[in-house]
Amino acid sequence: MSAFQPVALEHASRLVNHGPTVLVTSADGSRRNVMASAWSMPVEFTPPRIAIVIDKNTFTRELVMASGRFGVCIPGAAFIDITYAVGSETGRDEDKFAKYGIAHVRGPVLGLPLIETNCAAWLECRLIPERHTEDAYDTCFGEVVSAAADPRVFSNGHWTFDESNVPLHTIHHLGAGNFARASTMLKAKPV
Ligand SMILES: Cc1cc2nc3c(=O)[nH]c(=O)nc-3n(C[C@H](O)[C@H](O)[C@H](O)COP(=O)(O)O)c2cc1C
Repeated sequence: MSAFQPVALEHASRLVNHGPTVLVTSADGSRRNVMASAWSMPVEFTPPRIAIVIDKNTFTRELVMASGRFGVCIPGAAFIDITYAVGSETGRDEDKFAKYGIAHVRGPVLGLPLIETNCAAWLECRLIPERHTEDAYDTCFGEVVSAAADPRVFSNGHWTFDESNVPLHTIHHLGAGNFARASTMLKAKPV
């Protein structure tokens, strides 16, 4: 039984607002895949839209363009090794979900494979048709159609990172397999 709780779409952009490394999931027919992505950001408030860079040479990109949808899962620190592994090899020849024993649930709106174990949150996105994505750029735009999060780390539209939920702290890629983990929160005061 999943402990994840739905996230209101008006709060969905906050899930990627602070720049976590994410896992992009995809599926087309019997083919499915997962890769790491460090480059993502919110771009529109209503409806919530995000941008994510998916290299045209990846298997993920092929599945996303064929199916018109992608999932974005936000790994916690406990998932760092798998995140790096799925970002270091292609799923074109071998199913990375099976290879690494990655458990997943089925997205409620788009049916995408979504990862909850050792992840903090997920979003399902419908690919927005965009001429520049098709012609030239690696950037893909998606409208968020459903989102959910582990309430231990994201609830009521806000992240909480503290000593109680360290394995779910988001990870931020510095390059070459080095990551910074979100940790102590600082609260700005009036000046
Ligand atoms: C931490 C990390 C971050 C990455 N970020 C991106 C990214 O933002 N965009 C991208 O296209 N590839 C990125 N990659 C590379 C892809 O994950 C990699 O090319 C992957 O093997 C593609 O898998 P696929 O062919 O199965 O889709 C990243 C890799 C790692 C390890």
